[in-house]
Amino acid sequence: MSENPCPSSAFQAIAIDGPAASGKSTVSRELARKLGFIYVNSGEMYRAVTWAVLKANIDTSDADAVWSFVQALTIDCALTQNAAGERISTVRINGEDPGEELRSPEVNANVSPVASVPAVRELLVARQRDYSQIADIIMEGRDIGSVVFPDTPFKFFVTASEQVREARRRAEGHSDPIAARDKQDSTRKASPLVVADDAVMVDTSTMPIVEVVQLIESQLMEKGLKKRCGCD
Ligand code: DC
Repeated sequence: MSENPCPSSAFQAIAIDGPAASGKSTVSRELARKLGFIYVNSGEMYRAVTWAVLKANIDTSDADAVWSFVQALTIDCALTQNAAGERISTVRINGEDPGEELRSPEVNANVSPVASVPAVRELLVARQRDYSQIADIIMEGRDIGSVVFPDTPFKFFVTASEQVREARRRAEGHSDPIAARDKQDSTRKASPLVVADDAVMVDTSTMPIVEVVQLIESQLMEKGLKKRCGCD
């Protein structure tokens, strides 16, 4: 049997980091399908916690108030089968699924300050690492290659120009202050958005998604990733 490229786990973890609206989710979802891996969106965990904080009318700029509220929450991160029969990651807070509210303008505007609270990050990073104990995963986020899975050899930083990313959000019809979020996510003290030293940088500004997926897949094969299905 060939050596496991992720020695700390029986499973393989692929890290996809990058700024808001860089194309990470689309690329990660498609790669997961092609490789037979589970797609995990770590941003949804920060969004779900932010949703709960807002529902409780807590000031998201008050880090102490945020943490004392968050530590008492029951946060369930799981794998569930969707209607199409795919296993997907889900997050419930005190038994509730935030659903579409994860992407509300209020959550968009408040998720960065909540994600900058170090204790919140510690809590969610532990949940993110748990996924790598139960499945082969492709996880997208901001600190996946730098903090969550620093030992994985499979790290990518997906980016695009600010104009392209803003246009993508406008086309989706979402109100999302991406430049402000990027600034806060990149300048916070606790695990800011950085390019991990050994990450492969992919600029999606002018590249169609299908080419981005092909490029990353071929790099993964070169790096010794083992596919989990003969999908395509
Ligand atoms: O990927 P996203 O835009 O849905 O993420 C929402 C926010 O969550 C993002 O602005 C910063 C935070 N986040 C983070 O700090 N670390 C991660 N690994 C993922 C997201």
